[in-house]
Amino acid sequence: SLRKADNIHRQAFDIDRAARARLTGQTPRVLWFTGLSGAGKSTIANLVEQRLHAQGRLTFLLDGDNVRHGLNRDLGFSEADRVENIRRVGEVSRLFTEAGVITLVSFISPFRSDRQMARDLFAPGEFVEIHVHAPLEVAETRDPKGLYRKARAGEISNFTGIDSPYEAPDSAELVLDTVSRSAEELADEVIRYLGL
Ligand code: PPS
Repeated sequence: SLRKADNIHRQAFDIDRAARARLTGQTPRVLWFTGLSGAGKSTIANLVEQRLHAQGRLTFLLDGDNVRHGLNRDLGFSEADRVENIRRVGEVSRLFTEAGVITLVSFISPFRSDRQMARDLFAPGEFVEIHVHAPLEVAETRDPKGLYRKARAGEISNFTGIDSPYEAPDSAELVLDTVSRSAEELADEVIRYLGL
């Protein structure tokens, strides 16, 4: 079957990622934070970005709540929509890394196959999967946005951890335990892992 991109050909340009790296003096990476709602993804990603920024590095943080108001505002939380959400975010993070930016991605990204699809867009070592882990009971107790309560009350359906699955990574580069350690300590651990 004919695909929509069949008659479209990639154009090569002269300024490539190596040229951009010479300009910025940094190795682009994508830091892919995955975990339940309320696990602490955005909090830790924000602290990591602050630390990198303070070191003079060019960063960008893509966050579910924000991207879903713009680029992905046509998507909801059905399985198909989450797959498309993560597919687009993977492609956008590739564009950002090609632009030379250290890109932080904070999405539940509940499906292993979608995270793998995103990983496959990158060179070995470029994609750093970070599992921000808290048990469901803990995330649900934190309930910073009151969404678990609504999900339990049947006011939201397809809520991750309640009536929609979260497939935990089995080979994440980093697992951050947000029960036993503070967000600051965990942000430092990410920085150490990156060697920055
Ligand atoms: S996904 O699964 O990766 O497509 O989700 P993501 O784009 O990260 O969006 C998750 C945030 O949307 C809010 N929200 C929901 N989460 C899960 N399930 C349902 N049904 C849902 N409805 C709204 C929620 O605030 C998530 O934010 P975080 O920051 O993860 O708590």
